[in-house]
Amino acid sequence: LRTRVAVIGAGPAGLMLSHLLSLSGIDSVVIDLRERADIETTVRAGILEQGTVDLMTGTGVGERALSEGQCHGGIGIRSRGETRRIDLSGLTGRSVHLYPQHEVLKDLIAARLAAGGDLRFGVSGVSVHDVTTDTPSVRFTDADGTRVELSCAVVAGCDGSRGVSRSAVPESVRTDYFRAYEHGWFGILTEAPPSSDELVYTHSERGFALISSRTPSVQRMYFQCDPAEDAQAWSDDRIWTELRTRVNGNGFELREGPIIQRGVIPMRSRVLAPMGHGRLLLAGDAAHVVPPTGAKGLNLAVADAAVLCQALERFFHRGSADLLAAYGRTAADRAWRAQHFSWWMTSMLHTAADGDPFGLRRQLAEIDQVTGSRAGRTFLAEAYTGWPIPVTD
Ligand code: DHB
Repeated sequence: LRTRVAVIGAGPAGLMLSHLLSLSGIDSVVIDLRERADIETTVRAGILEQGTVDLMTGTGVGERALSEGQCHGGIGIRSRGETRRIDLSGLTGRSVHLYPQHEVLKDLIAARLAAGGDLRFGVSGVSVHDVTTDTPSVRFTDADGTRVELSCAVVAGCDGSRGVSRSAVPESVRTDYFRAYEHGWFGILTEAPPSSDELVYTHSERGFALISSRTPSVQRMYFQCDPAEDAQAWSDDRIWTELRTRVNGNGFELREGPIIQRGVIPMRSRVLAPMGHGRLLLAGDAAHVVPPTGAKGLNLAVADAAVLCQALERFFHRGSADLLAAYGRTAADRAWRAQHFSWWMTSMLHTAADGDPFGLRRQLAEIDQVTGSRAGRTFLAEAYTGWPIPVTD
């Protein structure tokens, strides 16, 4: 089997890349270990930056995001029982969209299949070969058990932080910048009406909480927890008590309902440098992981795909590898900005396990400064709505 770009991983980076490539007349094959149904139902991120929505709309996959997603012109930052609004659209002219990641993936999969794209789910035994030659390949076993050798010109490693792609960059040439946090996020889905029109990022003495949404009847909420916490061991009542204690007060009250899904999400920061090796280029979580606090992970993956697609167009259509060589630097610039923002939001809003009275007061002062100054709010709003995706030509 032969293609120009072998894409490992059918997540946001891989599917967006394959979609954008096909619009430029560049063929690709996308493989993933997971089944399509898994990919289309696993609940993950929820916030699309303006640039992500614009890219989706501009390339014919944004229709449902616009009609079924919700546009949010602001977010709330809550501390000491008071919510202060960051007017995203007033401060930056941009907004964000609440539209779940798995819905983005459904839209991309549908578009690829409608265009006759070759997507293979449920594959196994994936390995990457000869990436320092002009004729790399990816080997895998198809869902029906057939062993496949996929010859290509470029391998796009979009298979996340635990995939095979990142380990195909030899340890002798790579640097792994890594930080683990002492916190995790306890995430729930609840059948309840929205508690707020906009997301509320809450700082409290008992720790961080985030009020988000999915649909008018299903809400997404998170609260800071020990990353080793066993989500199944918590009763609904205990979960609601924890959320209430952190968030309710001064007339704000969570609307509660049955909890229909729960899980604990680890928090870590990671950047791999360089973001590739020879003809292997990494995109999305394979290259960088952010803690969820800034809602950046999905958006970074999409931006990587956009930048990588431009480099591949130049390579295949004009025979120039200059943008491919620059891809890692361009993408890493954005990834590091997102690292800083996600780390900063995390450090401002999550409390230390040992209480740390100095740290708590420092955080309150920081929140007051950021929310009380137009410059502070603008800084947050610019980062939250996302930086422009670089366009060449
Ligand atoms: C959601 C997740 C995030 O990490 C975030 O910052 C905002 C919203 C969500 O799942 O809705």
